Amino acid sequence: MGISLGLVGLGAFGSEFAPLFKHHPLVDRIALCDREPERIRKFADMPSFQDKFNASDAYETLEDICKADLDALAIITQPWLHAPQAIQGMASGKHVYSAVPVMCLPDGDEILDWCDKVIEACRRTGQLYMLGETTLYRGEAMYCRRRAAEGAFGEFVHAEGEYYHAFDGPRCDLRVVWQMRRASRSGQEWVPVAQRYIERNILDGPMHYPTHSVSGPMDVMQAHATKVCAWGFGPVDPDGFFDESAYSNETALFRLSNGATMRINEYREIGHTGCETFRVFGTQGSFRENTWVDKQRSISLTTDEMRDPLPAEVEAAFRLARGDIEEVYGGHGGSHAYLVHEFVDAVAHDRMPMINAWEAARYMAAGVTAHQSALKDGEVLDVPDWGDAPA
Ligand SMILES: NC(=O)c1ccc[n+]([C@@H]2O[C@H](COP(=O)([O-])OP(=O)(O)OC[C@H]3O[C@@H](n4cnc5c(N)ncnc54)[C@H](O)[C@@H]3O)[C@@H](O)[C@H]2O)c1
Repeated sequence: MGISLGLVGLGAFGSEFAPLFKHHPLVDRIALCDREPERIRKFADMPSFQDKFNASDAYETLEDICKADLDALAIITQPWLHAPQAIQGMASGKHVYSAVPVMCLPDGDEILDWCDKVIEACRRTGQLYMLGETTLYRGEAMYCRRRAAEGAFGEFVHAEGEYYHAFDGPRCDLRVVWQMRRASRSGQEWVPVAQRYIERNILDGPMHYPTHSVSGPMDVMQAHATKVCAWGFGPVDPDGFFDESAYSNETALFRLSNGATMRINEYREIGHTGCETFRVFGTQGSFRENTWVDKQRSISLTTDEMRDPLPAEVEAAFRLARGDIEEVYGGHGGSHAYLVHEFVDAVAHDRMPMINAWEAARYMAAGVTAHQSALKDGEVLDVPDWGDAPA
């Protein structure tokens, strides 16, 4: 018996996920929701959606879709909306998939407060929550999880993670991305709210979007941050993109719960192609730049060698979703297909998804506390923790 699932937010990123969720063999019924009706129409009119989508399952607001008898929602709205919307979804009796981050606001204390509320909502409602962090389903992460399970790293010593996304990068210009995110009705509502943070001198930082850089090392080592010191850089650009931020780049050094250290870079003003990667070093073996290294050898790995297999029927369905083209896995290193499968499978089998609320809060707490340390010129701060997810 399959599940019913509603897609909330069919903008740039949600549109990439819609065909994958629709084609997953364990999804029987799909609903569509966006405040911009033409974004719904794009999928509602697609011949390939007709077997699982009915016109009565088109919803213009989150309130309306929450009233529908669906098992789950995938929320891919703007980053400052995720946590309250996820809580609203869970309160209406639905399991929730949320795009990253858990919540993105200029005020770090508010972000931590939202993490607390999301965990509380999971406990209160018993619904599942999953954060859609792409790094954790790149081939690198899957390979390192397998090697860690074998004990091949030995004791973990150190890790590094970085997310480089230049605000003026030619492949994905953040100025254009933010313009588009503010172009819709929900985007316009954010403009005066953002202004009020500036007036109160509460300034954002790239560590408030930390999940791409911290999640890989923390997941592979099954460790979380306990202490951090961080520093900020910039902004150098005078054109106003960073007006809401204290820094354009932030670098942090963490102490982890397993005794290892972790260096994280979140850079938005950098002469570098986009980069979302990590390295993990152990006493017996290490992983860096798609290469396994130990004392005897170094083995370069292809993405296909690193990634786990998807169940054959899921892979076949996704091949169809992507128009029978070779690349069945979707964007961000082929992670999209795995994220969709992990959430749908967890809901269908009533099990905790890998990137649950407790794990997600650990990524956010690391980044938020790093930004707080940077604002205090590198003061060493304790990182809050909500503990492990219940078994
Ligand atoms: N690697 C990654 O994991 C990655 C990459 C890109 C984007 N993202 C995340 O994906 C999210 C979406 O980004 P995007 O570029 O698609 O944004 P977008 O602005 O293009 O799309 C957001 C959509 O949500 C809709 N929406 C907002 N509130 C709604 C509500 N209450 N009811 C119904 N619809 C509502 C908007 O109308 C809009 O169409 C962001 O939070 C971003 O952080 C993650």
